[in-house]
Amino acid sequence: MRHLLSSADLTRDDVRMLLATAAEMHEVQRRDVKKLPTLRGRTVINLFFEDSTRTRSSFEIAGKWMSADTINITGKGSSTSKGESLRDTVRTIDAMAVDCVVMRHMASGAAHQVAQWVDASVVNAGDGTHEHPTQALLDAYTLEHRLGDLEGRRVVLVGDLTHSRVFRSNAITLRTLGADVTLVAPPTLMPSGIRSWAETDGLHLTDDLDAVVATGPDAVMMLRVQRERMSGGFFPTPREYTVGFGLTRERLRALTDANGDAVICHPGPMNRGLEISADAADAAGSLVLDQVSAGVAVRMAVLYHLLAGEEVAA
Ligand code: NCD
Repeated sequence: MRHLLSSADLTRDDVRMLLATAAEMHEVQRRDVKKLPTLRGRTVINLFFEDSTRTRSSFEIAGKWMSADTINITGKGSSTSKGESLRDTVRTIDAMAVDCVVMRHMASGAAHQVAQWVDASVVNAGDGTHEHPTQALLDAYTLEHRLGDLEGRRVVLVGDLTHSRVFRSNAITLRTLGADVTLVAPPTLMPSGIRSWAETDGLHLTDDLDAVVATGPDAVMMLRVQRERMSGGFFPTPREYTVGFGLTRERLRALTDANGDAVICHPGPMNRGLEISADAADAAGSLVLDQVSAGVAVRMAVLYHLLAGEEVAA
């Protein structure tokens, strides 16, 4: 494995291998002294052109706990703010002989493009509305930890599918692991082309969240309403969105009545009161903080296999 650009590049065996390594890394995370020598002498650059709390800090922590030298560059703090092109910026970084570029960018396809310009390994940490493969891995890790094997498990992804890279990568990885995936969104937030993807990959589509909740799925993943990516009115008012597609207190009750073991995920950052109520975010079945915790372990596993795992040539 040289780059991690898309969830679609990962076979079931790749995902299994990464999650198994993540489980070992999770053990390290529980130690008092969290330091492995594994990536000593390796340099990882986090190049983030979009804001991030979880993803950026967890990549940085992951690198540091494996003794890599990690450096953060943000779009605002880099020379792109002086007009330097993305190509010149990444080629400049590459000329410093870094080993890995972890990149977040507002343009879909940016990570793929950068991978062609540099010698370093590239990890896609979110490219526009396209993909976010490490998020899908950490979600799979979190769900497996709680539910066991995901084969045949019913997972529901709800919300702003059009603007969500988290949904795209999750739908791919969950199907790779054999989960039964249902997508719920208002018709205005169903991405174009979704029907043919759904037919090819066996995804279920609906705009009736209550009907899906009543069937008692194993997991419900709420997606953030990505207002910064919306140019027009995708729904009449926030209130109407919540009534139709939010995990409200009432829907949470319906979910727990239908399946007392159902779990709730959200990639963060949450819009409390819009797509998820405080009751749901803080419910016993909420895995929101488990997802964050798994994020470090999964990113350690990804960096390990890209930078230290000679045995996993691909
Ligand atoms: C997501 C992202 O930026 O793609 N956040 C994250 O990485 N945990 C989801 C979002 O912004 O809604």
